[in-house]
Amino acid sequence: MKSLVRPNIRKLRPYVCARNLYQEGILLDANENAFADDTQALNRYPDPESKKLRTALAVYAGVKTENIFAGVGSDEIIDLLIRIFAAPREEIIVLEPTYGMYQVVAQINDVKLKPCLLTENFQPDLRKIRKCISPKTKMLFCASPNSPTGNLLNPSDLKKLCAIFPGIIVIDEAYIEFSSQPSFAENLRRFKNLVILRTLSKAWGLAGIRVGYCIANPLIIEYLMKIKPPYNMNSVSASLAEKALKNKENLAELRQKMMQERTRLSHELKKLGATVFPSEANFLLVKIPSASSIIKKLAEDFTIIVRDFSSRPLLKDCFRVTVGTREENRAFIQSLTTFL
Ligand SMILES: Cc1ncc(COP(=O)(O)O)c(C=O)c1O
Repeated sequence: MKSLVRPNIRKLRPYVCARNLYQEGILLDANENAFADDTQALNRYPDPESKKLRTALAVYAGVKTENIFAGVGSDEIIDLLIRIFAAPREEIIVLEPTYGMYQVVAQINDVKLKPCLLTENFQPDLRKIRKCISPKTKMLFCASPNSPTGNLLNPSDLKKLCAIFPGIIVIDEAYIEFSSQPSFAENLRRFKNLVILRTLSKAWGLAGIRVGYCIANPLIIEYLMKIKPPYNMNSVSASLAEKALKNKENLAELRQKMMQERTRLSHELKKLGATVFPSEANFLLVKIPSASSIIKKLAEDFTIIVRDFSSRPLLKDCFRVTVGTREENRAFIQSLTTFL
């Protein structure tokens, strides 16, 4: 595992911030403002290791705290992982079409992105992926459920990939709570090169507080801790996330509401003659003739905004619509009807 880490990161002596050294006492070591209102201790830097939050996430995920890293959304963790494992001009593979940030983060870090097309039914093409792997290939990103396609990737294919892939495999489970199938995290013990990426932005309904996390073997977590900004997780987000994680009933309720609406929305779209792909997430991938111009008109005439994917490979005439409230979905369907 250690050999997969970039040499400069292996050698890195991390910055030691004030709260790494001392958490209690008369704290005159971090140039905080001692005169400000401290009822919520907002004048103090947060815990640099986010221990309480990571423990709450560990309890939820059924792993140990040492297996959890908490980041500013999963987007921060995608960036940190790439910076640990892929040096400039090395390569990462993504399974297209998928979440666009892998490509952007790769480009920012001067890492080459090798897109490997999914099959017609949006599953990994193992032969193509094998061919894509070169000595410079360091990481493979697989979103499952995938966005924008909405389907889970076949777990038996993912296991095969974990066994043959020479680098780190990131399974991005941003939407896993919406899925009918279990998480791939149960394979973490077996595959040391596996990272499971999760977020509170979707099923938990907390996109605004920017909390994501990953589950991985402790060595990978240690490297993430080593390179992250000193106080990446702010205390307000951490405490809101800890509170939310105590309320699993709320998660179940939100999920239930969304699933009902997803079924209804899918049914209505099919009645309009659209092709609706099966979804394990909180959105639908939809195909209609002239999708791109209809989406534009939806936005211009009705300020109803969905996401156009029609220029992406395998997604001709496709758009993605997030499942909204009943009223929002009704307005969307009514407006769409005027164009179809
Ligand atoms: C597959 C996937 N991964 C990660 C993210 C980013 O999530 P976060 O809000 O945790 O940064 C998204 C957001 O849409 C996503 O679709």
